[in-house]
Amino acid sequence: SQPSTAVIVGSLRKESFSLKLARALTALAPPSLRLDVITLNGLSLYNQDLDATPPADWVDFRDRVRKADAVLFVTPEYNRSVPGVLKNAIDVGSRPYGQSVFNGKPGGVISSSPGTLGGFGANHHLRQSLVFLNVLVLQQPEAYIGGIGDAFDEKGELVKTSLREFLDAYVKAFAAWVARHQQ
Ligand code: FNR
Repeated sequence: SQPSTAVIVGSLRKESFSLKLARALTALAPPSLRLDVITLNGLSLYNQDLDATPPADWVDFRDRVRKADAVLFVTPEYNRSVPGVLKNAIDVGSRPYGQSVFNGKPGGVISSSPGTLGGFGANHHLRQSLVFLNVLVLQQPEAYIGGIGDAFDEKGELVKTSLREFLDAYVKAFAAWVARHQQ
C-alpha cells in the first residue's frame, strides 16, 4: 500500500519557515508517498509520572506517528541544537519504555536557517537521538538549508528555484528510502 510519512515540524510559529518547508515537500512528494504534516502546538511536556495516565494530546501524537510508515523531521536550529518542543515530542513518542512509536521506522532530517549554516547543529543533535531510537535515517542527500529567509513569498509559496530543485530531489530519494525499508 501507499506508505505514509509523519512530517514532524520543530517550530510552533505561525509563519514558520520549517512549516512552509513541510508544506512545500507535501506538494512535491511523488504519488507513492503520502505526507502527514504534524505540528507540535498543544503537545504537553513529557512527565514520567503520567505514563499510566497519559494526556490525550500524547495519545493522539503517538497514534499519528505509530500509524505512519516513516518519520521526517523538518526543524530549525535553536542555540546550535534542536528546539525544546521537538525534543519534547521525541521524548513523548519514545515512551512508555519499550513502546516507542519511532522504533525501526525509516526517517529523514531536514534542518533550515535564515543563516548560512543551515541548522547543521540541530540536524546532527537530532540524529544522535535517532540512533538510540532505532530510526533508519536517510544519509544522502543531507539537508542543511541555509538562506531560508527569501525562499517563500508572502502567501507561503516556495519561490526559490534552487531550493525547489533540491527539495524535489530530496523527496524522491526519501520516497525510495521509505520503499526500501517499509516494514
Ligand atoms: C534561533 N535562530 C537560530 N538560527 C541558527 O541558524 N542557529 C541557531 O543556533 C539559532 N538559535 C536560535 C535560538 C532561538 C531561541 C530562536 C528563537 C532562534 C534563528 C532561527 O533560525 C529563526 O528564528 C528561524 O526562523 C526559526 O525557524 P522557524 O520558526 O521559521 O521554523
